[in-house]
Amino acid sequence: MQKFAIFGNPVAHSKSPELHNAVFEKYHIDAIYEKVRVDNANEIKDYIVKNNIIGANITVPFKEDILPLCDELSDDARNIQAVNTITFKNGVLKGFNTDGHGFMESISHYNNISNALIIGAGGSAKSIALALAKNNIDLLVANRSGHRLEFYKTKNIKTTLIENLEIKKYDLIVNTTSAGLEDDSLPIKRDVLKSLISPADYIVDIIYGHKTPFLELSKEMGEIYQDGAMMLVMQAVHASMIFADINVDFKDRQNIMIEEAKKHILKKIN
Ligand code: ATR
Repeated sequence: MQKFAIFGNPVAHSKSPELHNAVFEKYHIDAIYEKVRVDNANEIKDYIVKNNIIGANITVPFKEDILPLCDELSDDARNIQAVNTITFKNGVLKGFNTDGHGFMESISHYNNISNALIIGAGGSAKSIALALAKNNIDLLVANRSGHRLEFYKTKNIKTTLIENLEIKKYDLIVNTTSAGLEDDSLPIKRDVLKSLISPADYIVDIIYGHKTPFLELSKEMGEIYQDGAMMLVMQAVHASMIFADINVDFKDRQNIMIEEAKKHILKKIN
């Protein structure tokens, strides 16, 4: 049996097993994908070796901690300095990052984006920023505090403190902050946020499964908006392709995962 897993802490809420196991079930593949809660990145490596895990996803808070334990890194993982997918084959632990691809595909139905504002500068923002920059989208990353902005400066991405943010038209605005995840806060003061959202074409919050105050405000203002559910699904499809060893093409995996996600994740958020 081929074994796969997601490692995180907490991990109980993760929908990744449903997505991956749906593909295995549909194609009668002798494989299993499980959730494993660990306390540190070393435990991830030990578990993988001991249990013969051949592919895994890594989620908070270990996406950066796993990096030095990898024998090889994909270009994306090296650039982002974070890993969300690993393979363990022939004794080699290789790290990848599929979040950027997942994000780009989740917004592929949006047209004519030439500039974008990313609010927040944490781990998720890094992969989204590099993916947008790679697609030649003029980008500004705005964060509440300064230290996390250093990474983007090294990649020649424009940055600003939220307090100095220029109010103008951004075609796409992406909220990557945890504001509104467990409280009712907005990432930026309401009146300022309204002047940013109003001229924008598309609004995305990468939190999934519940409508944040940021998306609530966007809805009130009649904007086109979405949460992070499709990003989650699409990063999983890419991870699944990296795990490979299963003869199912990309489109089929995507369709199965989207169907599965409709049951658990792609709730209508309007
Ligand atoms: P992730 O890996 O999910 O992106 P993270 O690395 O913990 O999460 O980053 C959280 C981001 O949300 C940071 O940019 C943080 O801003 P600071 O760097 O100033 O801490 C931002 N953030 C969290 N709560 C926020 C809030 N209430 N308002 C604005 N920004 C917030």
